[in-house]
Amino acid sequence: MSHQYYVGLMSGTSMDGVDAVLVDFQSGQPCVVATYEEAIPEFLLEKLHLLANPTTEDIILLGECDRACGELFGNAVNNLLKQTNISAEEVIAIGSHGQTIRHMPNLTYPFSLQIGDACTIAVNTGIDTVADFRRKDIALGGQGAPLVPAFHQAIFSNSEHDRVILNIGGISNITWIGSDGIDIFGYDTGPGNTLLDLWYRQHNTNNYDEKGQWAAQGKVHQPLLDRMLKDNYFSQLFPKSTGRELFNMPWLNNHLSHFTSLAPQDIQATLSQLTAQTISDEITKKSTIAQVYICGGGLFNDDLINRIKRLLNDSTIDSTAKLGLEPQWVEAIAFSWLAYCFINNKTSNLPSVTGARKAAILGVFYPAN
Ligand SMILES: Nc1ncnc2c1ncn2[C@@H]1O[C@H](COP(=O)(O)OP(=O)(O)O)[C@@H](O)[C@H]1O
Ligand SMILES: [Mg+2]
Repeated sequence: MSHQYYVGLMSGTSMDGVDAVLVDFQSGQPCVVATYEEAIPEFLLEKLHLLANPTTEDIILLGECDRACGELFGNAVNNLLKQTNISAEEVIAIGSHGQTIRHMPNLTYPFSLQIGDACTIAVNTGIDTVADFRRKDIALGGQGAPLVPAFHQAIFSNSEHDRVILNIGGISNITWIGSDGIDIFGYDTGPGNTLLDLWYRQHNTNNYDEKGQWAAQGKVHQPLLDRMLKDNYFSQLFPKSTGRELFNMPWLNNHLSHFTSLAPQDIQATLSQLTAQTISDEITKKSTIAQVYICGGGLFNDDLINRIKRLLNDSTIDSTAKLGLEPQWVEAIAFSWLAYCFINNKTSNLPSVTGARKAAILGVFYPAN
């Protein structure tokens, strides 16, 4: 069979850049041909933060950002392809996640809103685009999230060992893949980097705490940790998914208001411990021990990873690079796979994960012509 090129696009809740990957599915397995990260320009980043702020209700801002993100994502694809000698005509489809503005899976009429106009992407790249992956799952009564477990199962399952794929983005999610091929579940465990980034930025000029060095200088404040761990989200049963609608600055300020004069670094260390503990608590809920493979930007936060290693068994933890996929590209690769599933009429949600009534072909098709 000839090359089966797909592009995956992802920009997560951290808003740290647009990840673009060119993937060949010729063998059925994803083979990464090229990767590219498109920076989000400052003016758009400011608007997106404003729009992602739960108190903002400006539809013009929404419409403009939708179009601006469409152009941004289109540029990411065009720049990605420039790195290669593969032309737009050779790419079968783009799978675009979009930028999440609101994820509200528990309303009377639940919805999850990702922007980044796919018509603009298709027109500006000349490539058919598949987007809006979460909406049909929600229409089927599901959370619309997380979507990556189906990809994790398709690509990372192993008949000898139970595996956990842990993605530490702004929010953390896990996928449990039983070696029996039947036991599969996954959900958002809670915060990943989001609280760490928010608190770090209040006291430092960089965007995030490089390697978690600042957090490593602090000491965990146990009463604050205990208080945060009591949040209902952590005791809820899955299916469940969350976002910055819950784990945001007001959430943190509310907890902090019960304490006086904590050192900023101690708060950072406590947030790191919160992320580590809420992740490891979920992984150790099962009686069997799984091999844990980590992806997402949180993998580069040494302080956070050391805390996870102390809570789990060190020897059971690795990067998804061990399984052949570089950790910072796994999510974008997943969206190239979701486009691949759409084009090949394959279902791509896991009802056991999202709670949807049935498996379905996810995505909406936006032809280039
Ligand atoms: N070298 C690093 N040291 C510490 N944290 C890092 C490093 N690299 C990335 N990160 C963290 O990872 C986040 C981005 O992770 P990513 O997987 O792209 O999240 P999302 O899917 O939400 O966009 C950054 O905001 C930062 O918190
Ligand atoms: Mg990112």
